[in-house]
Amino acid sequence: MHKVIFDTDPGIDDAMALLFLHASPEVDLLAITTTFGNGTIETTTRNALYLAERFGIAAPIGRGAGAPLVGAAGDPPDFVHGGNGLGDIDIPAVLTRQPDPRPAYRLIIDLVRTHPGEIEIVAVGRMTNLALALREAPDIAPLVKQVVIMGGAFGINGVLGNVTPAAEANIWGDPLAADEVTGANWPLTMVGLDVTQQTRMPTPFLRALANEAGKVGRFIWEISRFYEAFHLKGGVDSIYVHDSSAVAYLLAPDLFETRRGSIRVVSEGLAFGMTIQKPADQSGPPSPWDGRPEHRICTGVDAEGLRRLYRSTL
Ligand code: BDR
Ligand code: CA
Repeated sequence: MHKVIFDTDPGIDDAMALLFLHASPEVDLLAITTTFGNGTIETTTRNALYLAERFGIAAPIGRGAGAPLVGAAGDPPDFVHGGNGLGDIDIPAVLTRQPDPRPAYRLIIDLVRTHPGEIEIVAVGRMTNLALALREAPDIAPLVKQVVIMGGAFGINGVLGNVTPAAEANIWGDPLAADEVTGANWPLTMVGLDVTQQTRMPTPFLRALANEAGKVGRFIWEISRFYEAFHLKGGVDSIYVHDSSAVAYLLAPDLFETRRGSIRVVSEGLAFGMTIQKPADQSGPPSPWDGRPEHRICTGVDAEGLRRLYRSTL
């Protein structure tokens, strides 16, 4: 059983990933922690509470960071996820569920210390909460079983970014946090655009979920209408599977090919938010990658296998 903390900025694909986790019999979801990103922190936390309430997800919800470690949060990408972060579906004004009294980073620290060696963190938004947890309690890193991140792009398929030509959204939103998190000594895997753009869910697949996966499937159909329209405007006739790819890595790592090496994140200048891995077997003169732990990045994916896993789980 995977004991999971899900760090997220719901977000249409975040909601799809949360429902994937919730449906898996192999997952014990211990907490949801929220971050700014696809909406303001008010919006993403409200959406997490709403999803938990609507689908009976009992895990506590810790409200997280509203801005990056340095600077201010940019405008939420309402053209990607809708003004309410969930494709502009109707969301009740009043919710019963309330956030946990602890901020996200504190909830993360407490859970890791309560379950040493057991917690797996799946982080699919800005990495600010994880960086804050590490700053407050650096001793937690070796107590975490693994961290799986949806973020970054390493040019494996010629793509380096989706917000700028050099940066993926989750990293671009707080590059310093990403550099600190990838510099920590915990087993970590980055599931970047290199693989998440290789797995797509076309309309017939989403329609099949609507027909086969009960109220969860019908909800995914509803929220994915906006996301699909956004992809279509960009000439992509199916939706990219970003955040659910991180969940798939947790559940079935054999679906992915990976490469080890140390990772740095550019936090200023033209390539702000760019992720660069120095492969473990690459030699060279002293560089900013020296002394950093080796982590995995995903370089390949069995897209059909991933879709099959998602559909059968739901
Ligand atoms: C990432 O950015 C967000 O829009 C998605 O939820 C995903 O986590 C993809 O770049
Ligand atoms: Ca996300």
